[in-house]
Amino acid sequence: MPESRCLQGIWSSPLIFIFAASGSAVGLGNIWKFPYLLGQNGGGAFLLVYCLCLLLVGLPVLMAEVALGRTVRSNPIDTVNDLSERRIVHSAWVVAPWIAGITGFLILSFYSVIAGWSIGYLERAVSGDFKGISHEGAASMYDSLLASPGEMLLWHSIFMMLVVLTVGQSVIRGLSAIVRILLPSLIIILVVLATYSLVIGNTSEALAFLFHWSWQDITFDVVLSAIGHALFSLSVGMGAMFSYGAYMNKRMSIARACTIVVGVDLLVAILAGLVIFPLVFALNIDVEAGPSLTFVSLPIIFGSLPAGQVVGGVFFVLLVIAALTSAISMLELFVAWMHEKFYIDRFKAALLLGIAAWLIGIVVLLSFNHWDNKVLFDLNFFELLDELTSLILLPFGAILLSVLVAWFIPRSMLQNEKVTKQAGHFKWWYNILKYISIPMMIVITVAGWIGV
Ligand code: PHE
Repeated sequence: MPESRCLQGIWSSPLIFIFAASGSAVGLGNIWKFPYLLGQNGGGAFLLVYCLCLLLVGLPVLMAEVALGRTVRSNPIDTVNDLSERRIVHSAWVVAPWIAGITGFLILSFYSVIAGWSIGYLERAVSGDFKGISHEGAASMYDSLLASPGEMLLWHSIFMMLVVLTVGQSVIRGLSAIVRILLPSLIIILVVLATYSLVIGNTSEALAFLFHWSWQDITFDVVLSAIGHALFSLSVGMGAMFSYGAYMNKRMSIARACTIVVGVDLLVAILAGLVIFPLVFALNIDVEAGPSLTFVSLPIIFGSLPAGQVVGGVFFVLLVIAALTSAISMLELFVAWMHEKFYIDRFKAALLLGIAAWLIGIVVLLSFNHWDNKVLFDLNFFELLDELTSLILLPFGAILLSVLVAWFIPRSMLQNEKVTKQAGHFKWWYNILKYISIPMMIVITVAGWIGV
């Protein structure tokens, strides 16, 4: 077993794992993607199904990924090779970590473009461009950013550089300090903004939209989006949490740590919803607007808020850092593998992968303007990558990983891990993973792909 993890050090305090894993989970998925998915999928119905998916799929799979990572303390690719040498699994299983790594890499290519928008908005916030902005003004600000590939390229490049520089360091050093400050600050600022938005916005409609549901709203598409987003938002199914699990202290209960991560992730997402929807309903912004929803609503809030220039500036700095702590986990699988297997310097590995993802990102940012034509299935390149990763690759990666843990890894090997504090709870997790999470992911995603 490679010793390099031990050389880099096991995370000494249990809190550090929780911070780092939450740093990966909390990001644009919570603040940018979750609100628009809520808008597109009927509000309360989506929220309800999403919470169930977190509980029945997200949490058990997250625990499986972390448990496997901590048991073997290696990178996913070497782990599968090692398991196949020990005849625990067939060598063909190596496709699973490869798919996971490729998924993370593809997500990074478009994630960096959206994180770039946040840098662009940071610049606008501190320049005072939001002051007194109207709905039309905010919409045209968003449109004009998307119509400027040059500007988007600049921000995308800056963000990717930050990612490469951070991943190039050791993840432990890069992450632990940042996230400790980031998460509490982000939650505080979201609470302030949500309170303000509930005061100035259309609270009753927003709350009704977010928390009321009816059976007919729960369609297959809603369930598929909810599962896809639960995996995306918890960063599971692509090896990131596996890698962080490998750094985790053996004494800590995986169940408890992962429950906290899921809780923090959900809290941030719901707060983001509470910031955005009161305003959306007050100004009659189209709830189904899609990716523009957050970027059109927020400037209006900052534009009318006393000291909005400062609050807006701080908010977008936090958003960019949250995106950064997520983005670095997307490269971790391949970087750790290249470093441990071929002794390639972490920075060089990160640079190589970063450049490749940056190039794909250029096609993504052009798909918002010059290449806005539909490439396949009525989707442009950005939409295609987004749907391919969230609805196909992440579920596929999560299914393979869970099947590996639930059906192939000897139960005794997992039982030696402190997955749950009490032995009785282990059975619950194991059976839910085996008989609920895996069948649910298979049925819903396969049915979704074939278009039921
Ligand atoms: N969970 C991150 C977010 O919500 C995105 C992410 C997806 C990170 C997959 C790593 C892996 O923003």
